[in-house]
Amino acid sequence: MKVSQSLCGALLAVSVAGAWAQSAAPAAAAGTAPYKVVDGNKVDPVTMEGFRTWRAAACDRCHGANQEGLVGPSLVNSLKTLSKDDFVKTVMNGRPNTQMVAFSGNATVTKNIDALYAYLKGRSDGAITTARVEPMK
Ligand code: HEC
Repeated sequence: MKVSQSLCGALLAVSVAGAWAQSAAPAAAAGTAPYKVVDGNKVDPVTMEGFRTWRAAACDRCHGANQEGLVGPSLVNSLKTLSKDDFVKTVMNGRPNTQMVAFSGNATVTKNIDALYAYLKGRSDGAITTARVEPMK
């Protein structure tokens, strides 16, 4: 019983992810997405810098190596609804009385906040299919 339930959950997760990937396509095609990606993992220089910033700031300690959440929430989910403004505010100021600290004192993060958003938005949209990315040729 337990096994079939979790299988069911996995199938649901896959179909939901598929739906999001499809809905991401028009934004990318219309050129409104903040990232560019081909083959799911080859990205433009800005998005690449976002990935490097993610690694340098060790956001993965709390949000997971695949942005799917640990102590902190899944950013794949969060960025489907969180606006860019709210993203920037949260990362800069942190969330009082939670483990989400302010990164306004982190020069790498403040300098690359747009790039960081671009990378995470691509992950959230399902357009960037693996957490690890490489430069586009
Ligand atoms: C020490 C653990 C920790 C680290 C490191 C951390 N976070 Fe968080 N983050 C959290 C927690 C916990 C929350 C949930 C706060 C709350 O309850 O509102 C959170 C919330 C967030 C949210 C808001 C999500 C939402 O749905 O409202 C964003 C965006 C976010 N973090 C981005 C980042 C980024 C980007 C980094 C790296 C620069 C980072 N976090 C590093 C623990 C962490």
